[in-house]
Amino acid sequence: MANLGIDFCGVHFKNPVAAASAEPTLNAANMKKCIDAGAGSVIAKTMTDSSDMRELTTRAKWRFLNEKHEVCHGKVPRAFSLYSRSGLALETPKEFMKEIRETVKYAEQNDAVVIGSIGSTEIDGWVDLGKQMEDGGVPLIELNFGCPHPKLMPGVRTGMNVGQDFNYASEITNAVANAVKVPIIIKVTPQVTDLVQFSGMLKDAGAGAVTLTNRFIGFVPDIETGKPLIYGKAGIGGPWVKPLTLRWINEVRTAFGKELPITGTNGAYDWRDIVMFIMSGASVVQICSAVMCYGYEWLGKQVRGLEKFMDEKGYATIDDMLGIATDAAIEYSQMPPEKAHVNEDICKDCGMCLKACFSDAMQQGDGHVYVKQENCVGCGGCLSVCPVDGSIEIAPNK
Ligand SMILES: Cc1cc2nc3c(=O)[nH]c(=O)nc-3n(C[C@H](O)[C@H](O)[C@H](O)COP(=O)(O)O)c2cc1C
Repeated sequence: MANLGIDFCGVHFKNPVAAASAEPTLNAANMKKCIDAGAGSVIAKTMTDSSDMRELTTRAKWRFLNEKHEVCHGKVPRAFSLYSRSGLALETPKEFMKEIRETVKYAEQNDAVVIGSIGSTEIDGWVDLGKQMEDGGVPLIELNFGCPHPKLMPGVRTGMNVGQDFNYASEITNAVANAVKVPIIIKVTPQVTDLVQFSGMLKDAGAGAVTLTNRFIGFVPDIETGKPLIYGKAGIGGPWVKPLTLRWINEVRTAFGKELPITGTNGAYDWRDIVMFIMSGASVVQICSAVMCYGYEWLGKQVRGLEKFMDEKGYATIDDMLGIATDAAIEYSQMPPEKAHVNEDICKDCGMCLKACFSDAMQQGDGHVYVKQENCVGCGGCLSVCPVDGSIEIAPNK
């Protein structure tokens, strides 16, 4: 049977499936449910000294949206969006630390890991929250430089407002890294120009790992009422953002390899996505939106799905899969020359491929589809629109 265990920043996780910092980890009771469901780790809701960010959570709102970005009622499609607004942990740090201590104890008894998450508005505050978290017994602390909502809150310099200021973020990272002994993980916003450059700066400042990435900012009008959903601007994400996150994981993994471990979040829906995150280079994969839609049990289901996949594919360990797709990616110049080939025995001559060919390579003569080889660049558009499986092949010149 596959071994799902991993070592991340010197801490052992029984599996890579994590409950991301959000409402499913709002307090000890919720975090225990994530652990009971089988998550290898939970990232606690972000503890904050900002009363504005605590208060925002009392007015949290969210909607699952369909592909047309209309509010779902009952049926939530696979490619849903979660349009949401929420702040950080509800309790003051002093009160929230009781939740952390209780969860740390429970996690120890259940072979799970509790990661603390913090968010302040001043460097001293970040340091103070970091120390409190460390005293609470967590083995890792995530710094939330990605929360999208402070963007709308003048004067609240936390979350994404920090993550978009690389120098200030590095300063905070350095201050917290020097103040605590446990490794710190920096959770970043995707809404920056270059997460490779930023990750390098964070690593140099003392980050033990990075979390790629928090959610995007969005805006969704309701065309029936002419008003925005949930009263206005919000954060947006969902399974459809996965390739965007995976690209950053790929880039950061390529740049720093094992020197900078990665946890992935933003777009992981099920075990298939978890495999994609791991193959791109994330050791720990955090899930939020899908848990908020289907409940805590979703986490355990994905652990079992991952295990089954590994057994079927013969991957003995998570490390056997870690970053393999990123390592296999080649430069454009190394790509082999390919062309389209039509299997005349099964081609139905429907002509769909002609509409999707912009090199004038797919042609039809005497009613039959053929490839004008000298025109074909092997792009593969024809393959994707062809309704007959196996009728078109993209392969080296025959
Ligand atoms: C309602 C809600 C609340 C969240 N609260 C936090 C938070 O307190 N701290 C944090 O770091 N991220 C927070 N997040 C971001 C999630 O941890 C996660 O990174 C994000 O939703 C992307 O993962 P997903 O695609 O699985 O949803 C929140 C997300 C949502 C939807």
